[in-house]
Amino acid sequence: MASITLQGITKTFGDVTAVRQMELAIGDGEFFVLLGPSGAGKTTTLRLIAGIEGPDHGRVLMNGDDVTNVAPAHRDCAFVFQQYSLYPHLTVFDNIAFPLRSPLRRTDPAEVKRRVREVAELLHIESKLERKATALSGGEMQRVAIGRALVREPRVFLMDEPLSSLDARLREELRVELKRVQQRSGATVVYVTHDQVEATTLADRIAILEAGAIQQVGTPQQIYREPDSLHVAQRLGSPAINVLPAEWFEGSCHPLAAHVAIRPEDVELSHGNGQASFQVIECSLVKHLVVAERAGVEVRSRRMFEHALAPGSAVRFHFPPQHCLFFDQSGRRLAAPH
Ligand SMILES: Nc1ncnc2c1ncn2[C@@H]1O[C@H](COP(=O)(O)OP(=O)(O)OP(=O)(O)O)[C@@H](O)[C@H]1O
Ligand SMILES: [Mg+2]
Repeated sequence: MASITLQGITKTFGDVTAVRQMELAIGDGEFFVLLGPSGAGKTTTLRLIAGIEGPDHGRVLMNGDDVTNVAPAHRDCAFVFQQYSLYPHLTVFDNIAFPLRSPLRRTDPAEVKRRVREVAELLHIESKLERKATALSGGEMQRVAIGRALVREPRVFLMDEPLSSLDARLREELRVELKRVQQRSGATVVYVTHDQVEATTLADRIAILEAGAIQQVGTPQQIYREPDSLHVAQRLGSPAINVLPAEWFEGSCHPLAAHVAIRPEDVELSHGNGQASFQVIECSLVKHLVVAERAGVEVRSRRMFEHALAPGSAVRFHFPPQHCLFFDQSGRRLAAPH
């Protein structure tokens, strides 16, 4: 297993800067998640770690050794690609077994059989082993691709949205399995997703990526509770964090604050009328959510009454100061006022 360090990595494609001066230190045995929207540079970062792309500037280190100019085969990373890439003329068995039979590894045939079966069972594709890879559904192909990575014992697993083509139940099941495999093997995993549930349940630490630049690195808890910027605050949490105008907090607010943000689970709710009240837009006991509006600003609360509130009825919100986060005009987080 291995630690991974990216030092000042920049990668451009023509006039697009896919990765910008990236500094990242991923620990040996860490489950590290890159979370960001489409085009943020997630796949490019994985490809740079694997050695499929070379950086314009900067260095890639594994276990402290500079591997920037080392060929992919010698970096020993198992890659699960975003678009599953199987050998169509081979069976499922042979696809999964492929890395074990490479000249670099030459595994004993009985051992190959044992390992392939074990992985196939884990991924629920044991009944498909004799099929051609082309005779599978998309979700099955993706599981074969995951199997081909898991069958090895590489230094690093690089996984690019490996569960995105699976249905919700299977995704949940495999999420648990992947975490278990990682914990058992102590593997270093760099895992790309734009699904925040996946990110927060799998990650030891998350890097929030935006336009090729890292916005923040931390545990899911740190990113959720202590975001450095409004942008990061809005990346995690469903329903999303409330962003309220600073004028609502006169006196109790940071003098430079332009926005005050508070998580829906921290917004307290009471019956109310009069000037400070909000109009209910949606109230769902199932979703455990009340959405109400005042002067064009929507507020979401996860504190519920015993009974549903009719749309149009009046409620009051209370925003406990200890849960409020303050941001300046540019979205930078400000220290809480004392
Ligand atoms: N081979 C390439 N040639 C030109 N531009 C590229 C190439 N690969 C990536 N890019 C550009 O670099 C940027 C980052 O791409 P990347 O594939 O890393 O994003 P991503 O975060 O993986 O997005 P997605 O979630 O859509 O997969 C994008 O603007 C993309 O268009
Ligand atoms: Mg991608």
